[in-house]
Amino acid sequence: MDLLPGHRHGSVELRLIRTRDARVLQHELLNNRAWLQPWEATIPNGAASFDMRVSIRRLLQQYRDGGGYPFVMEYDGEIAGQLNVWGVARGSLCSATIGYWVSERFAGRGITPTAVALATDAAFTEYGLHRMEICIRPENVASLRVVQKLGFRYEGLRRRYIHIDGDWRDHYAFALTREDVPQGVLARWLHGQAPPEAASIPPTDRLSI
Ligand SMILES: CC(C)(COP(=O)(O)OP(=O)(O)OC[C@H]1O[C@@H](n2cnc3c(N)ncnc32)[C@H](O)[C@@H]1OP(=O)(O)O)[C@@H](O)C(=O)NCCC(=O)NCCS
Repeated sequence: MDLLPGHRHGSVELRLIRTRDARVLQHELLNNRAWLQPWEATIPNGAASFDMRVSIRRLLQQYRDGGGYPFVMEYDGEIAGQLNVWGVARGSLCSATIGYWVSERFAGRGITPTAVALATDAAFTEYGLHRMEICIRPENVASLRVVQKLGFRYEGLRRRYIHIDGDWRDHYAFALTREDVPQGVLARWLHGQAPPEAASIPPTDRLSI
């Protein structure tokens, strides 16, 4: 497999996942059940699988097929979580979606916004993509902060959109296109130029939680 170069800013590194990450990731997933479960994608009528070797092989096959870019996020050389660019559509769309998690002990250090910025910049400048989307459950205040910080634009409420934690869940969709960030997502954020209002939810779409 051709080696995708990693991306780094400060203590945060984004690199392609490897089969030998399975043991550490499996350990983190099992030790962070209560933290991750409310936000975890599930398969309708499917059994939950915690076999990371199988998941990683599947992700790497998708990568080889051009369907995704599966990364781990490292913090000072330690695996902090996963960031997955999935659903890559080429042709007239050139778009993809980002999903992510970090272990609870790594939360609050800005690892995810940094990694999302690195991945989106790479998508726009290296992977030939034009639009990056992030979908978030309305209840997920921490994840909503990630798109707010980076100035992703709110694009709408999708009812019963993704199967999460055992049921179809409503999601808010956020996106950026290449034209939104000529200076890059990371540089725009670091220079304090990410528009703070872009991710605001209009009152008509606010769900009572
Ligand atoms: C959402 C998530 C990825 C954010 O990652 P992160 O690397 O902690 O991101 P940040 O450091 O920017 O923190 C984002 C917000 O999380 C909240 N937060 C910070 N530390 C926290 C902690 N120890 N516990 C809970 N929430 C915390 C804060 O609201 C923070 O916003 P702030 O910086 O304005 O205070 C992470 O909370 C997570 O993995 N959650 C569980 C899985 C999940 O929700 N995945 C996303 C599905 S869309």
